[in-house]
Amino acid sequence: MKVAELTKSLVYGAAPEAAKPALDWIAEHNGRFQLFINNEWKNPSGKEWFDSTNPATGRKLGSIAQATSTDVNAAVKAARKAYPSWSATPGHIRARYLYAIARQIQKHARLFAVLETIDNGKPIRETRDIDIPLVARHFYYHAGWAQLMDKELPDHQAIGVVAQIIPWNFPLLMLSWKIAPAIAMGNTVVLKPAEFTSLTALLFAEICASVGLPPGVVNIITGDGRTGGAMVDHPDVDKIAFTGSTDVGRIIRKATAGTHKKLSLELGGKSPFMVFDDADLDSAVEGVVDAIWFNQGQVCCAGSRLLVQEGVADKMVKKLRARMEKLRVGDPLDKAVDIGAIVAPVQLKQIQALVKLGADEGATMWQPSWAAECAKREGCFYPPTLFTNVAPASTIAQVEIFGPVLAAMTFRTPEEAVKLANNSRYGLAASIWSEDINLALDLATQVKAGTVWINSTNQFDAASGFGGYRESGFGREGGREGLFEYIKRKPAKEVKAPVSKGVSSQKAATSRASAGVSLSMAPAIDRTAKMFIGGKQARPDGGLSINVYGPAVGKSRNLIGEVGAGNRKDIRNAVEAARAAAAGWAKATAHNRAQVIYFLAENLAARTDEFARRITQQTGFSANAAHAEVDAAIEQLFTAAAWADKYDGRIHGVPQRNVTLAVPEPMGTVAILMPDDYPLLALAALAAPAFAMGNALVIVPSPAHPLSATDLYQVLETSDVPHGTINIVTGNRDELAKTLSEHDDIDSIWYAGPTPGQAAVQKASAANMKRTFVMDASGALPNLDDVLREATQVKNIWVPYGA
Ligand code: NAI
Ligand code: MG
Repeated sequence: MKVAELTKSLVYGAAPEAAKPALDWIAEHNGRFQLFINNEWKNPSGKEWFDSTNPATGRKLGSIAQATSTDVNAAVKAARKAYPSWSATPGHIRARYLYAIARQIQKHARLFAVLETIDNGKPIRETRDIDIPLVARHFYYHAGWAQLMDKELPDHQAIGVVAQIIPWNFPLLMLSWKIAPAIAMGNTVVLKPAEFTSLTALLFAEICASVGLPPGVVNIITGDGRTGGAMVDHPDVDKIAFTGSTDVGRIIRKATAGTHKKLSLELGGKSPFMVFDDADLDSAVEGVVDAIWFNQGQVCCAGSRLLVQEGVADKMVKKLRARMEKLRVGDPLDKAVDIGAIVAPVQLKQIQALVKLGADEGATMWQPSWAAECAKREGCFYPPTLFTNVAPASTIAQVEIFGPVLAAMTFRTPEEAVKLANNSRYGLAASIWSEDINLALDLATQVKAGTVWINSTNQFDAASGFGGYRESGFGREGGREGLFEYIKRKPAKEVKAPVSKGVSSQKAATSRASAGVSLSMAPAIDRTAKMFIGGKQARPDGGLSINVYGPAVGKSRNLIGEVGAGNRKDIRNAVEAARAAAAGWAKATAHNRAQVIYFLAENLAARTDEFARRITQQTGFSANAAHAEVDAAIEQLFTAAAWADKYDGRIHGVPQRNVTLAVPEPMGTVAILMPDDYPLLALAALAAPAFAMGNALVIVPSPAHPLSATDLYQVLETSDVPHGTINIVTGNRDELAKTLSEHDDIDSIWYAGPTPGQAAVQKASAANMKRTFVMDASGALPNLDDVLREATQVKNIWVPYGA
């Protein structure tokens, strides 16, 4: 026999990693794991325990405590107690703790990797080479931010007690994504791992204790969705960070609506993997393996939709099938295994059901010749599966399967590819394969996703933000952008107000009080202002008007005008106009956007007296204060214009041979329900930055003082504002807010109003997971940095280099 023939007949021998260290660790605990609260191990108050099993064998690994709401309360109390001193601990000291944790994880890397593999079912190759190294990296990286916080984020402080709920697909990695930034910034934490995979979190708890982390800074409690629900509902929690299913994300969005709780959600995905004619197909095939068979496809950003250009589709599918034949499914502890076990029987059933549905709906299902072996194994195994002839609207093209199942579709042109890619409610990630870097980068800007990998896939690093567009959730984890999920602005006295000159809030308020209400200046009632939709003045659909009054004089109020009472139809028209204009405005150059806003400022300045009179008439401000407000508004327009081409992204220093571009992109269509104070200045301070960042707007002026906005129509008409990019609908704020927050074509809603109104907006926004930015109807306007951040979302584009 020749050597070449010999190699063909060689079969893989087993190369198992020993489970012993992990089993010994479990045995040391007598197979029973309590709750880690205040650096002590506590029994669950409800005396309920559940099993954690090894999905590759179906065998029980240990008993895990089911935390009750009483236990959640104890953990939150411990975190609250630890908070004042932890948040006041110098950044350098916090950095040392994070560093110590990172070192410990590295020292026990093998134990962590094996434990993760037997509890979750993922291959040892992945836990050893990817999960655990990234966990350590996350703590090192955030040790750096703890060190730099004072200098780099001087206006910010920790938020308080953070509740964190994580899924089972990357148990320890998700823990590190949550805990590292939280404690680096001075928060204290109550974290709950997913019920299928609690063990590495409990080993992590031991490490926290061993490095002497002060009691209460990190509390780890175990349990199922009931425990998670109790964490979400706990009144003394300041922030909730969740990763998991979109359904549960929605529940949490609704439950926290209108509370003070800050929220970040990292939800599902249906990420496109786009292959162009000129791609290096062999690399692309390896990319697919990584995109959909990494972690058995149980990856939120899995490249689960393969979009291939028609000319290479057959070739690609052929290569892919050949590669799938060679994949190895089996014992996750075997170092030569590519695909391990599915996390649990319930997940396996879901995959089977969706695959059946895919076939029933008419797609062509293909599995390797050895696929039947998977079902014969004890434990939960599923073969790599490829669907072709998939209709873009079919279930398997739209729904997150969370298993090793790929749905392939074809396209002809790059435009069609973008349309297909964006034909999803999700927007977590995308992968683009082409040797033409111009094309790839062009598409990267058009795909709606928080992360775009060019000629690569599933690249992660602590230095790069990760998170979704659309229904994939909001907030970023990692990178400088991720820190903002765990900090808040220091109280106003310590930072500059957005109004830099002319009118400070106190000054304006005093002048209003002392104005003596100079109503003599008020002109007679003239006309009913219309709406401003699609660049045209439009009559209110309902044909109703609302009276607008000046400030109270004793018991009476002076009628100063009328505005249209907008209804659902007006909002629909305005949103439609904004949606139609959004893409063009987002693509306008930053220079162009700045020009339009400078022009607006110029035209407003030409009418200073008129606008000042209007402010006085509505608010009772003195002429001086009103002029100062107009001046301040003009200055704000200049500021917004200035930022249009200066709100730069970053290049993250990830360790891969890669340029990782963190690019701020517009949200799309933003609805802004204006506050009452400073009717003109508020428009300039909120709407202008949103506009400058490339968003199309639907503005609902303050119902108390709407006339400064309706007077703007003529200014807008003469300032080259593209039709539809700024729409104004007057009317009842809460009524219009309801329609806007339920509207699927609004990407972000900013609402100034009372707490119940804020709650209603946040609750309704859960339907399409739109971003919300809520504030009071009066008082200081938000800080410009915050406004700019709310007006944008960061996309991380990974561009590899090297031959
Ligand atoms: P899940 O969303 O129910 O679980 C995630 C975490 O939330 C777990 O810790 C769970 O205990 C907790 N949880 C469940 N109900 C809760 C509630 N009402 N309030 C607070 N916390 C709650 O996800 P599950 O059931 O494990 O998986 C179901 C599907 O979700 C998967 O098939 C997959 O499609 C998707 N999924 C997506 C993930 C992602 O990273 N995008 C991660 C895990 C699951
Ligand atoms: Mg398990």
